[in-house]
Amino acid sequence: MLDRLEEIKKAALEALQQVSDGETLETWRVTHTGRSSALMQVFSGIASLGKEERPLVGQKANQIKQALETAFTERSQVIRHATLEKQLTSEHLDVSLPGRPRQAGRLHPATQTLRRILGILADMGFQVFTSNEVETDEFNFQLLNFPPDHPAREMQDSFYVDAGERGENPILLRTHTSPGQIRAMRLAAASDPKNPPPIRIALPGMCFRYEQITARSEAQFNQVEGLAIGKGITFSDLKGTLSDFARRMFGQGTRTRFRAQHFPFTEPSAEMDVECFVCGGTGCPVCKQAGWLEILGCGMVHPTVLQNGGYDPQVYTGFAFGMGSERQAMLRHKIDDIRYFWANDIRFLEQF
Ligand code: DAH
Repeated sequence: MLDRLEEIKKAALEALQQVSDGETLETWRVTHTGRSSALMQVFSGIASLGKEERPLVGQKANQIKQALETAFTERSQVIRHATLEKQLTSEHLDVSLPGRPRQAGRLHPATQTLRRILGILADMGFQVFTSNEVETDEFNFQLLNFPPDHPAREMQDSFYVDAGERGENPILLRTHTSPGQIRAMRLAAASDPKNPPPIRIALPGMCFRYEQITARSEAQFNQVEGLAIGKGITFSDLKGTLSDFARRMFGQGTRTRFRAQHFPFTEPSAEMDVECFVCGGTGCPVCKQAGWLEILGCGMVHPTVLQNGGYDPQVYTGFAFGMGSERQAMLRHKIDDIRYFWANDIRFLEQF
């Protein structure tokens, strides 16, 4: 019996040497130390042995059982290490590999310009007010004193979004930011109808016109509208404010000039030019040899518009202005085609 035990031990340890992974190790454990293993059978046979043999066999069997258990533990450690090693090699990271540069996002040049304009106006005390992109004919035209037969109201010039079922007051995409003037005035006047508060706002946003898309005109573009309403505001305030704006926007030495113009919602109306900041006024391709660049439309708010906004034109006056912000970006960066702005060509956008 003692020899048999030696054989059992030898066979088990030899088999253990062949074990190389967790799965076969478990099979080994069941086969060699499990309930129906040869060793366990020896244990269950001990009772039927002779008196002398019994303690010897029992002791030996226990030693072997312990030896196998120890060998099992050692072997499982070796296997665990080997598995880990294999995993580490196969999942090996080459940290010396150069990284892939991440594409950093940035603000769109139109947004950058818009923010620059709004930043300057905010410094000058103009609060940002945003208004609807989808407007009614009433706000986009009628309340701004456009006569019914004004060319801007032609179907060919605006995007109408209903099929004309609203008769006199169709819905359209705003063609300019000016309707926000009426909304802002009405909102302010509603807070104190007898004595409406002064207003000083900058009104940014996308505008839409049914245009042939060319290098110079797009069907969508951003404008920034300005509006100042109060008691005793004069054309001098308009000129001072806008000249100061031009200096902050284009540089301290920038000269401005105002030319008479016509807009239905302002009287008198003007356009402001700035001295060409590329050539300094001597004439170049950017200013088309004129020495001046047209920057914005402006004027004193028309009494009818004040009235429509809830402000008594006998008591209040004000000025307004509107500028296209992509146009400013084009001048500043010498971009010669407005279509770049919404073409989403990364080669263009990456330059800003
Ligand atoms: N709304 C005009 C346009 O789109 C721009 C404009 C001109 C706005 C004069 C004004 C203004 O507020 O006073 O062409």
